[in-house]
Amino acid sequence: MKPIAALPLVLAAGPLLASCKNSGPEMDFERMVNQAHFEYYEEAPFFEDRRAMREPPEGTVPHDRLLGPPELMNGVVDGKFVEAIPVPLSRPMLNDGRKRFEVFCAPCHGVGGDGVSVVAHNMELRKPPSLVTAPVLDYPAGRIYQAISQGYGLMPTYGHDLGVEERWSVVAYVRALQLRNEGVAVGTLPEPVRVRMQEELR
Ligand code: HEC
Repeated sequence: MKPIAALPLVLAAGPLLASCKNSGPEMDFERMVNQAHFEYYEEAPFFEDRRAMREPPEGTVPHDRLLGPPELMNGVVDGKFVEAIPVPLSRPMLNDGRKRFEVFCAPCHGVGGDGVSVVAHNMELRKPPSLVTAPVLDYPAGRIYQAISQGYGLMPTYGHDLGVEERWSVVAYVRALQLRNEGVAVGTLPEPVRVRMQEELR
């Protein structure tokens, strides 16, 4: 209680303190609000066309403009989620996906994507679901991509933290986790992988 009760006192003493000799330059916290400025659509004599609202410089790109095909940028084509990941898969891409997943997703969805995490344990309203079992298991790739890009319900967006390619690499890693959880028939593995696995299990 004490700090709250003392707050008005501190605030009242603020201007006094500010005018003390050794307290540094006086702070005017309202200066951004009070500075000279134009309102929208106001006339500005400074410019030749007298418009206060300026056009952005030529070549400026709006923050939300699509800069690639919709399947890549949105994971949606003609109102439908894309089924397949629209970028080539590779080992470095999956490694990258793993790194990002463990930083951005695992705290809530668990390192194995199974929904087991401290956050999930403590979240009461709607828990982060398992990403490796139904229903997420059956989601098209585009739906997972969209959850990352735009957020979903209580889940915040990670579109500002992860670029387009990074988001797809996370989707690819989620797919890998799903495969691991489901189990893969040895016969379906590519030859070199099968040989290596059999050697390591020997
Ligand atoms: C802060 C915790 C948190 C983080 C971090 C997080 N999620 Fe989620 N996620 C949730 C919650 C909670 C839900 C369920 C939201 C709801 O139902 O309102 C959810 C739902 C989902 C869904 C299901 C969406 C649907 O359409 O049903 C997917 C897929 C998903 N998350 C993937 C991810 C991926 C991939 C990442 C990492 C980029 C991630 N999440 C990061 C909390 C989180």
